[in-house]
Amino acid sequence: MSQRKLFVTTALPYANGKFHIGHIMEYIQADIWVRHQRMQGSDVNFVGADDAHGAPIMIAAEKAGKTPQQFVADIAAGRKEYLDGFHIRFDNWHSTDAPENHAMARQIYRDLKANDLIATRTIEQFFDPEKNMFLPDRFIKGECPRCHSKDQYGDNCEVCGAVYAPTDLIHPYSALSGATPVLKSSEHFFFKLSDPRCVEFLERWTQDGRLQPEVANKVKEWFTVRENADGTKSEGLGDWDISRDAPYFGIEIPDAPGKYFYVWLDAPIGYLASLKNLLDKRGEDYEAYMASPNLEQVHFIGKDIVTFHTLFWPAMLKFSGRKTPDSIFVHGFLTVNNGEKMSKSRGTGLDPLKYLSLGMNPEWLRYYIAAKLSARNEDIDFNPEDFLARVNSDLVGKYVNIASRAVKFVPGGKLAGGWDLGVMQAGKLVDSVKLLYETREYGKALREVMAFADDVNLRFDSAAPWKLVKEGNTAEAARVCSECLEAFKVLTACLKPVLPELAAQAEAFLQCAPLDWSNAATPLGAGHQVGAYKHLMQRVDAKVLEALFEAPEASPGAPPPPSSPEGEGREDKPGGEDLAPEITIDDFTRIDLRIAKIVACEAVEGSKKLLRLTLDVGEGRHRNVFSGIASAYQPEDLVGQLTVMVANLAPRKMKFGVSEGMVLAASHGDEKVKPGIYVLTPWPGAQPGMRVR
Ligand code: MSP
Ligand code: ZN
Repeated sequence: MSQRKLFVTTALPYANGKFHIGHIMEYIQADIWVRHQRMQGSDVNFVGADDAHGAPIMIAAEKAGKTPQQFVADIAAGRKEYLDGFHIRFDNWHSTDAPENHAMARQIYRDLKANDLIATRTIEQFFDPEKNMFLPDRFIKGECPRCHSKDQYGDNCEVCGAVYAPTDLIHPYSALSGATPVLKSSEHFFFKLSDPRCVEFLERWTQDGRLQPEVANKVKEWFTVRENADGTKSEGLGDWDISRDAPYFGIEIPDAPGKYFYVWLDAPIGYLASLKNLLDKRGEDYEAYMASPNLEQVHFIGKDIVTFHTLFWPAMLKFSGRKTPDSIFVHGFLTVNNGEKMSKSRGTGLDPLKYLSLGMNPEWLRYYIAAKLSARNEDIDFNPEDFLARVNSDLVGKYVNIASRAVKFVPGGKLAGGWDLGVMQAGKLVDSVKLLYETREYGKALREVMAFADDVNLRFDSAAPWKLVKEGNTAEAARVCSECLEAFKVLTACLKPVLPELAAQAEAFLQCAPLDWSNAATPLGAGHQVGAYKHLMQRVDAKVLEALFEAPEASPGAPPPPSSPEGEGREDKPGGEDLAPEITIDDFTRIDLRIAKIVACEAVEGSKKLLRLTLDVGEGRHRNVFSGIASAYQPEDLVGQLTVMVANLAPRKMKFGVSEGMVLAASHGDEKVKPGIYVLTPWPGAQPGMRVR
């Protein structure tokens, strides 16, 4: 087959926060696919960028006392640590605020306008008279018109699920200033998606087999009915509002002073801008590259941003006279411990940097995520026990062990020959696994790899080379074990897209050429010399895994985060740590603090840190809560005492059971500076169940 030419992207993360585990999952999925492509000789450009624009980032920057440019630059500076840490190898990382993107977005807009696909219309919107700006829906709050819950967002009610327009809210207020917003009209620019040319094109483009079937089906619905902001339904595609008024952090619309592109207009253009930046740096011609007849453009995205990538983006490209994507690969969401889908801006559950700082092997995570992924956009869950089992028994127990067990019986590391049946089977395995990577069925690929590893281990066990050696038949032992090492080589190639580092170490041990799909099934052959075996991969330690899920704030006894050396004795950090960023009263009221009575308390077997508390919060049932206070209290001292707990914290599954809340305790930011943990107790008179506010 002739060499494929691929331009591959992942979604551009908002530059308002660090990566969370959901982002890392997406990058791992795409990185595996790209590495697979490179193993079959495809010519790939794999790029990402920060999505820098939009009102939320502008507002976050203002709160942080930075210019938006400085704010997003600071976020960008933190990206490399994650990407390198998890062996995610983008060819380029750029920003949607870069000059290339400004220029391209303006040009695409001009082209669409020349094609008569831009309209202007005056719309009425809420305006914050104190902040002097139009308010995005999520910065307007008020009482739900349906169930009358207070402090609901401008687009939907989190209590009853009602969907409405911000203007439907009772007593609306600006979440920025608290001021009552006023209605103000302004001219907006629209992309005429309802134009028959767009509709006709998209109906074809989305249903021609390039999308996953479940995605194509969902998209189909949008051509018939669409839900309006107020919950009513309309027919067909609606025009798309692509402008925002100043002040806005974004790209100014040509010939429209004070008007900016809505962030989602210029965000996907950032894919092209990052590619152009890369090609410019290499001295290659961007226009020529994009015009290559065999170029395939592939976007990996999550299921929450399908509309943007299957309607707006292809239409923008098509009608500005550009190439449209060949594939949009949509994945589901990663949850942790069956938790809720992680919030977009603030990941919860599994902190990728903490994972790395605990010395956990990034390839364990790559393996585990790959084992769970399929070509469908279903959600997957990170479950610690499952993680431990799969890594320890499959990856280490089945694959890594083959090398360490077999090499012992190959004298001098010189392989004996003859592996005819094995070669045939290996060829089949490689063909099948290759296809499964191609179609993003990574879970299936790894199951086939592990089934093959099972066969190899069985072969090893039934031949019992240690017995053969005892019986003086070292030649037969060497022959069987040479076969096992040949098989180990094939398995290494099959795992290489997922485990690039491990594969590199295994190649060094095997003393073979870098493995790719063309040489994966070719035997090393009789007389091939392998090197000395060094242990390739540790097992996951259950204790480290437990530490990963210990929320620092949930257990004061946990090791404190690494503190700066000047932290000691510095009085500008009360209690040894900086104050957390400012919150509003709404943020605070979301935390439901209650008086709790400790009705029972006991040590937790296997943990020096934790005590198990049984709490009465006046609910007519008891709660089980683990608390990292064992170093400070004897269980019997606590029984009968009152304390304060966070009562609406999502239950958390820990190694020892489910924790249904969190007890409040004080401690210094650095345990080494000032040890001690002090559980909070209310003044006399407080009763279990009373709210603390
Ligand atoms: N900035 C937009 C994308 C613009 S693309 C031109 C955005 N950013 S995001 O940071 O919110 O999300 C980036 C990607 O991460 C999206 O593909 C999103 O689906 C994905 N994920 C966010 N949370 C996720 C999980 N919990 N699990 C898996 N992927 C998740 O949307
Ligand atoms: Zn409601």
